[in-house]
Amino acid sequence: MAATGPVPFKDVDDGTFSAARDPKEEFGDLVVTLPRKEQFLVGRLYKGFWLPEPYAPGILAFQRRFTPRPDDVVLTSYPKCGTTWLKALAFAVMARNAYPPAAADHPLRRLNPHACIPFMEDIFTERREAKLESLPSPRLINTHTPYSLLPETVTTGGGCKVVYICRDPKDMVVSLYHFLRHLQPGLSFSDTFDSVLDGTVPYGPMWDHILGYWHASVTRPDRVLFLKYEDLLQNTGEHVRKLAEFMGRPFSAAEEALYTVASIVELCSFDNMKNLEVNKTGATEWKCKNMAHDSFFRKGVVGDWMNHVSPEMATRLDEIFHDKFRGAGLI
Ligand code: A3P
Repeated sequence: MAATGPVPFKDVDDGTFSAARDPKEEFGDLVVTLPRKEQFLVGRLYKGFWLPEPYAPGILAFQRRFTPRPDDVVLTSYPKCGTTWLKALAFAVMARNAYPPAAADHPLRRLNPHACIPFMEDIFTERREAKLESLPSPRLINTHTPYSLLPETVTTGGGCKVVYICRDPKDMVVSLYHFLRHLQPGLSFSDTFDSVLDGTVPYGPMWDHILGYWHASVTRPDRVLFLKYEDLLQNTGEHVRKLAEFMGRPFSAAEEALYTVASIVELCSFDNMKNLEVNKTGATEWKCKNMAHDSFFRKGVVGDWMNHVSPEMATRLDEIFHDKFRGAGLI
């Protein structure tokens, strides 16, 4: 019997796949003409968004070359808004027949969530499209690409689904600061904060990133699911059911009777994930930078911004986002 997806990306043999065309050869000339800003990573302004320079050619290749399958699910997020958690939950939900969540040998107990679901920026930058194509359906894939820059085949046709997660920008900026400090110990919080305020933060402006997915979820609710980290944290089980239903894998009465949802919530919970050996050691090997697994699990709470952001700074950030979101029905 042919394997059904999703399977952990890392488990697929790297073997004999040939490398795709180098996106730097294809799009490098275009990228060097784009406005450039030295931030934590160098950014390039493309169609209104500051793309991390090392990934810009790969994002363009993803946009032009990716062919979705009708049953693909694209997991999208603004960075530091719960990507790792969403990846874990979506994988656990979609793969629950092959990998029961309570099983001791569940892939998420031996692999970091980023090793289970491929990150498009990295796949296209590293020319690993053949491996992506080899995955059995349904596939789960992940990107931070803004909605307006997604492949047209994803946003207008193809039939695949998109799940987006965002978060209170104040908690995002604190999370981003701590994450980036793993790469740049000297980074100041005020520089990180200012980059969110002026929109030059990687994949920024954050408000436009959120709004793109929000509007899409309003106009195409059957295709785009919009989640908030805070809601997920408040009632994880309810949102896991919502996610499963949206992805076309609702829980049956028999599964409910067996507490499958609770098992998934527990498997993917912050405390469980953070304390797994695999997440305390090792690193995710991305082209941009290798990131230590433990850097993806810090506090996992709502409101940690209060320990870093002064009331005046909070008001400034809130005012900008309220202003940008006015009339969108989002807050
Ligand atoms: P904090 O830095 O506020 O703790 P991303 O995965 O998009 O990089 O987001 C990282 C944020 O999600 C971090 O927030 C991290 O601690 C939190 N996180 C990671 N795994 C989580 C989980 N299983 N449950 C809740 N939060 C989680």
